[in-house]
Amino acid sequence: MGAEDLPKWREDFPYESEGDDHVTRRDFARFLVLLSGGLATGNAVVYLRSRRPPAEPSGRMEIARVGDLAPGSAVVFRYPDETTPALLIRRESGELLAFEQKCSHLGCPVSYAREGGEECLRCYCHNGRFDVASGEGTSGPPRDLRPLGRIALEVEGGKVFAVGLSRGRAT
Ligand code: FES
Repeated sequence: MGAEDLPKWREDFPYESEGDDHVTRRDFARFLVLLSGGLATGNAVVYLRSRRPPAEPSGRMEIARVGDLAPGSAVVFRYPDETTPALLIRRESGELLAFEQKCSHLGCPVSYAREGGEECLRCYCHNGRFDVASGEGTSGPPRDLRPLGRIALEVEGGKVFAVGLSRGRAT
């Protein structure tokens, strides 16, 4: 590159340093196109994963003995696999319910709580609450998001079994 080929700014700033590469507009535009393509691909993957149909009913799994659950209590178990925490609740009324424990907002654990005589499912990360009967978000960020995954239960011989999982809103 001859002196006449140098860009004008080189005359004004004639300093050289190691690694002082000249980046053309074309190179920069190419970089932006590649970056945009990568981001678009990543977003498409996240979108497609979120559109997966609800999980099919999973296998039958024993969770607990009914007699070990006091009314107004809950226990954590794992379902449908060893990496997915879930919550089995025995309401004050004695009704048994189970939900995935992962908050639909950013995935913090959800707890069974009683506040002012009302039962609810509570996420303490961002003050989210879910309806204990349906798993629908009632306040905080979960209010606008999908409900907690619901685990179907069966009681047989004094034992509680998880028999399936459904995600999304009941129709
Ligand atoms: S993670 Fe549960 S409210 Fe944000």
